[in-house]
Amino acid sequence: MSQRQILVTSALPYANGPIHLGHLVEYIQTDIWVRFQKMRGHRVIYVCADDTHGTAIMLSARRNGISEEQWIDTINRQHQQDFAGFDIQFDQYGSTHSAENRQLCAQIWQQALSKQLIASRDVQQLYDPEQKTFLADRFVKGKCPKCGAPDQAGDNCDKCGHTYSAIELVDPVSTISGAAPEIRSAPHFFFQLEKCREIVENWIARPGTLQSETANYLRGHFLSDTLRDWDLSRTAPYFGFEIPDQPGHYWYVWFDAPVGYIATTWQWCQAHGESLNDWWRNPNAEIHHFIGKDIVYFHTLFWPAILHTAEYELPTRVHVHGFLTVNGRKMSKRDGTFIRGRKYLEHLQPAYLRYYYATKLGDNQDDLDLNVPEFVEKVNSDLVNKVVNLVARCAKFGAQTGLAAQYPDDEGRFAYAAAQSDAIAAAYDAGELSRAMRLIMELADRANQFVDQAQPWKLAKSPDQTERLRDVVTITLNLYRQLAIYLAPVLPTLQQQSAELLGAELQDWRMAQVPLLNQTIGTYSHFMQRLDIKDVEKMIEETKHENASAAATSDSGAVAPTATVDSDAALLAEPLAAECTIEDFAKVDLRVARIVSAEEVPEARKLLKLVVSLGGDQTRQVFAGIKAAYEPADLVGRLVVIVANLKPRQMKFGLSEGMVCAAGGGGTEVFLLSPDSGAVPGHRIH
Ligand code: 2FM
Ligand code: ZN
Repeated sequence: MSQRQILVTSALPYANGPIHLGHLVEYIQTDIWVRFQKMRGHRVIYVCADDTHGTAIMLSARRNGISEEQWIDTINRQHQQDFAGFDIQFDQYGSTHSAENRQLCAQIWQQALSKQLIASRDVQQLYDPEQKTFLADRFVKGKCPKCGAPDQAGDNCDKCGHTYSAIELVDPVSTISGAAPEIRSAPHFFFQLEKCREIVENWIARPGTLQSETANYLRGHFLSDTLRDWDLSRTAPYFGFEIPDQPGHYWYVWFDAPVGYIATTWQWCQAHGESLNDWWRNPNAEIHHFIGKDIVYFHTLFWPAILHTAEYELPTRVHVHGFLTVNGRKMSKRDGTFIRGRKYLEHLQPAYLRYYYATKLGDNQDDLDLNVPEFVEKVNSDLVNKVVNLVARCAKFGAQTGLAAQYPDDEGRFAYAAAQSDAIAAAYDAGELSRAMRLIMELADRANQFVDQAQPWKLAKSPDQTERLRDVVTITLNLYRQLAIYLAPVLPTLQQQSAELLGAELQDWRMAQVPLLNQTIGTYSHFMQRLDIKDVEKMIEETKHENASAAATSDSGAVAPTATVDSDAALLAEPLAAECTIEDFAKVDLRVARIVSAEEVPEARKLLKLVVSLGGDQTRQVFAGIKAAYEPADLVGRLVVIVANLKPRQMKFGLSEGMVCAAGGGGTEVFLLSPDSGAVPGHRIH
């Protein structure tokens, strides 16, 4: 098998909301594919980045009173943490707001200009008179001009697939402010896609480039007609890259976003002393994009045309997947099924989701359903009962006996599983992950049958069966090891745990061909717990609750244009305050205080009356809105932080002489702040 050179990407997530389980279908699918290819010994890099430009992000930053750069930096950190939490391992994770990306966009733009692929003309656009901004297509809704379907976005209709310009929408409404937009005119720059038709058609016809359903969709919806010019520019105000020599005009986010694939590869190349051309201008290197079916249009018409214009290689394959549904329905905030990755990780192990998604994914665009009872059943019956129990039942004896020096007669079991390697590998390579999982679980069944028959626990009781016990252990742990190797792309944590137990790495696919012998075995400690449906239900309940409180604190009153755009409310539930100077900050006298008494205020639903000591004979009476989260008796004696110089306020129940500091989103989500031990009442907080 010759070594392949493979560049892999997942779609760049928008920097305007947290990663949720819908996103994770794609990143998990890609990560599994990448890990598999790496285990096969290929030279692979997996790059991704945040997609940081556009009106949505500009508005999110505005709403939160911070600069766009601050906004995207915060989100970038969170995205990277979330991905790491799910064992998604990028070789490089960047941002489209990078110097490399700006430079590449400028080069590509120059090439498009010199090849006379850019035309400029005035266009009429929708303008929100309240927000004082031109409206991106996703911020307008109206009726489809072709089929009349209501609630369609400004670029294409999800009912009939027709594409149009936003000003053609019937009865448009700005989804940012609810205002009826005005039509204004401004010059725009267009990419003349029709001039690249032949290139695109040839590329689509190349075997392996696209799944047949994608190719058919393109032929049926776009290529049967003249390809429309693509509007590549946006007018200020816009967060993005200003077009060189065109002040007030910016590249449309969908121009610089895919260029981010190249820019991020370039960053990786710089860090590893490699050449960008070796990845993007090398006909022997493969380029694989993983995307959702909603963005096929950009990746399979414009992107190959842009790449060709800039003299880069065209993608080897675009792998398109469907959407996630939960319990058979679209993800919904009201049902609590719009689950953030971070929330999932508070409750459940990443391995469960990685495995479950793998059992559901094939090389097609079918939607994938996260069915909660099925999820629990698959995790418990496959992963826990078949895979983990196999090692759990034997490892204890393995620690006593070690592995035999010679592989015992196992009636062809190891050889059978070794011979399945090619079929499993072919399934992984083709993106048929569910097939790969089925094949592996069949092997798990066979291995369990062996242990059931061999009954090592009985052998362990007879001193004269020590050798047989060692043989049984050797066979079982080697059959288990094959499973752990085959599952490693899906379950990297299990791979790591297994390697530690067996005292040998499992990083190479070919290792499943040769048994591990003459080896001491480590101490087994639980690799994986059973999944309890109550934990899943709890996660959904909490999500429901948080979505409800995020909706209550969101002040925009806007119609959510897409599922992700409005979710910044969950991320930064409250807008950040405006910048303040150190002098401003110094005016607030924050002090450590000890709660000396706490009692309920019968007439007030949320308040507790606290008396706090600031040291010496200084005390303050404070009414704090923490009743839903704390029992008064638990508070007495506790150190807290208070604003000691807040102007006293006469309330219905008495005078409030300060404020207790707490974090959280309100309701039962209140977390009192306490200093580390050593601090005493009266200490000032600087
Ligand atoms: O649809 C999306 O979420 C986009 N942010 C994907 C961009 S992929 C690439 F083109 F950058
Ligand atoms: Zn329509």
